Amino acid sequence: MNLNIALIGTGTIGSGVVEILKNNSELIEKRTGVSIILKKVCELDFSKAKKLGIDEEILTKDYKEVISDKDIDVVIELIGGYEPARTIIIEAIKAGKNIVTANKAVIARYGDEIFKAAAENNVNVNFEAAVGGCIPIIKAIKESYASDKIKAIYGILNGTTNFILSMMEEGMSYSDSLKKAQELGFAEADPSFDVEGKDTAHKIVILSRLAYNSMIPENIETTGISELKMPDIMYAKELGYKIKLLAISKLENNELDIRAGPVMVPIEHSIASVNNEINAVYLIGEQTKETMLYGRGAGKLPTATAVVSDIVDIAKRNKGYYTFFNEIKLKDQDEVMARFYLKFMLIDKPGSLAKITKILGDNNISINAAVQKEEDKDVVPVVVITHKSLNKNIKKAIEEIEKLDSVKEKPVYLMIEDF
Ligand code: HSE
Repeated sequence: MNLNIALIGTGTIGSGVVEILKNNSELIEKRTGVSIILKKVCELDFSKAKKLGIDEEILTKDYKEVISDKDIDVVIELIGGYEPARTIIIEAIKAGKNIVTANKAVIARYGDEIFKAAAENNVNVNFEAAVGGCIPIIKAIKESYASDKIKAIYGILNGTTNFILSMMEEGMSYSDSLKKAQELGFAEADPSFDVEGKDTAHKIVILSRLAYNSMIPENIETTGISELKMPDIMYAKELGYKIKLLAISKLENNELDIRAGPVMVPIEHSIASVNNEINAVYLIGEQTKETMLYGRGAGKLPTATAVVSDIVDIAKRNKGYYTFFNEIKLKDQDEVMARFYLKFMLIDKPGSLAKITKILGDNNISINAAVQKEEDKDVVPVVVITHKSLNKNIKKAIEEIEKLDSVKEKPVYLMIEDF
């Protein structure tokens, strides 16, 4: 069968889609019987599109031309961001077009509106590329695990930040690592979405909605890695941990503990071996127990592969589903219990450490291990690993410790994820 498609945006992923269609269309048709025809391309910068070998005749700067074209079956939205992506998607759906998108921001914020419109207009919205690049995690949760109850999802879901953390472990600076990730086409147009954890948050919200069939809000507790310092990465390594920007979504007694931020993971856990731009999703199901999916989470061709497969899927399959019938309470993040890594830069004089241990004790925080790094300087790092403590007690203790004259720099605190 013939499937006429229109591409909106020829940036990193869009150019990958064009390349895959050029190289693999014959293979796709032989395998699936679907012949994909690129009928229109919407791009403001024609020279960019022409460099990809796109015929000028099919180029337009006006997305409305795509929407009003009765022959187009599928609109591929690859411009990213909230707007005008949302408007284009909604208008295309109302015009009866199926949608394929790699846009996690738009699905996280406007997913409800988009899927309602899709149901009303009897079209499909596929978004496999929005989470985990080429890892088929959306299909896995919607289909492969349809008969299980998912209890927890842990994910390394942002290629850029995982790449930065891996490079920093090798001694490259934060800013050089970010620059390299941008050059390699991993980062968002606005890289603050990567480094501040928002991209990871969007992705875990999308996976959690599918896994728990509940309308999880977009604004979950999120922390980034922009303030993370190289020494903490090194101390973590010495102590047998790795720092990962981890998305966590654990359902216990119908209460969801969901967050995104840097945590320390034991070096022997498989998630700790996920490096560079690689993503991984570690699922725990009631019946299936642990499963880990691992693959390229960012980059032109891996992500574009998921987009093109979603196009084929539209031709081959029935409607997807995105239904919410569960009411889930979100866990108050202050009430999360965990072990913590704390690091203080202390003036090396009698009584400095005692003041800190007193504040920790007063806040009901028990110390598991403490090391003062031997350095011939006036200000020295002191690293503490706590026993399980309440997040709110740690936050309060840190606030008090930060005010001490003997403490220089902002203290660092990271949760240790013991899985
Ligand atoms: N900026 C994203 C990342 C791209 O680094 O993972 C893939 O969603």
